Amino acid sequence: MTLTFKPLETYRDDFSFRNSAEAIARFPFPFPEDQYMYSVNLEPALSRDPGSVFEHTFDIDEHYVAEMAERARVLELDPQRCLVMPHMAQAAWDTLAVLMEHLARDYPGHFQLDREGDAWHWRNLALGIDQRFTFGDPASLPCEPLEYITRQMQGDFALLDQRDNDLFMDAGMVTCPADWSLRFDAGMSFRQWHSPVPLAPQAGIFERALKYLLNIQVGQPVRRLNWTLTINPRLDTSPETFHEWGSDRGKVTPDNVGRLVHLRVELQLMLRLPRSNALLFGIRTYLISLDELVTNPAWARRLHRVIRDLPEPIADYKGMTRYRQTLVDWLRAFDADA
Ligand code: HEM
Repeated sequence: MTLTFKPLETYRDDFSFRNSAEAIARFPFPFPEDQYMYSVNLEPALSRDPGSVFEHTFDIDEHYVAEMAERARVLELDPQRCLVMPHMAQAAWDTLAVLMEHLARDYPGHFQLDREGDAWHWRNLALGIDQRFTFGDPASLPCEPLEYITRQMQGDFALLDQRDNDLFMDAGMVTCPADWSLRFDAGMSFRQWHSPVPLAPQAGIFERALKYLLNIQVGQPVRRLNWTLTINPRLDTSPETFHEWGSDRGKVTPDNVGRLVHLRVELQLMLRLPRSNALLFGIRTYLISLDELVTNPAWARRLHRVIRDLPEPIADYKGMTRYRQTLVDWLRAFDADA
């Protein structure tokens, strides 16, 4: 797909963000069935579907410039959204290398990387950045390397240290989370940061998922989709800003549900880093309003059934309890068999 970046205003307070017909067609609709239950839905991230969000390991789309401006805005208000514990310094350089290599290879019209030993030259034409630096020397960059590269990369990132047969959330850049906080989870183990999730621990899902993740090899990344609902196309739904968005859940009415309620899908990538052996966890978030989603009748029908039949604890965890009935009533019109 040809990339024409949307301007900054599209992701700001007026929420005038819209997907084009092309973007709606490539939206990663997450439901393979009419029912949804947590599962270990991991798959190799190597299959490439041209034009889809899976075409490249790291997907860049028309919201790139707007989302990078949004990240800068959030960081200005709250610099602690980026965190790198001292023992994660090598993993941060690892991340910078992997992201620069992938972007330059997959989007050469927008990103270029030249290297001679440790002397690197990075050009980000989309954001007007031209940077020479010494790989491994933090003083040669304007800021810490994880922050530097993730200020130029759509989606959130957690960097997991692997030790004692477990993963620990010891670094990351998280400015667009679905209601969780890096500052709160920092230093936690895989089971600890997942402890608020209902039903999944009892089903043994996290045990099996962790075993899988610990064995991911360099060059064999893995992906999965996760989803929730968000009111307005708001990326930063973090606990830190709950006072700004939490009450929006009470504003859904039969008249505005299609415009306000958005399906929020996370394309999660798990990739082993070659130098540090840390695990890079990427969370690339896509938003689509229900008005946009129902332009695809098969998606509309399936979403109706999924939301209608979703187990109560999951619906509650995902924050939809206040408007779930309004939503199901609205979606029913798109499901002729219901
Ligand atoms: C190392 C990689 C991973 C990281 C960093 C991560 C992180 C998180 C975080 C921070 C949450 C939110 C918890 C909260 O409410 O505070 C979450 C939720 C969840 N995670 Fe993970 N996760 C990872 C891998 C996985 C894997 C492999 C699975 C596979 C089954 C999984 C399944 C889930 C589920 C089912 C939820 C609840 C999501 C929802 O209902 O919206 N996670 N994860």
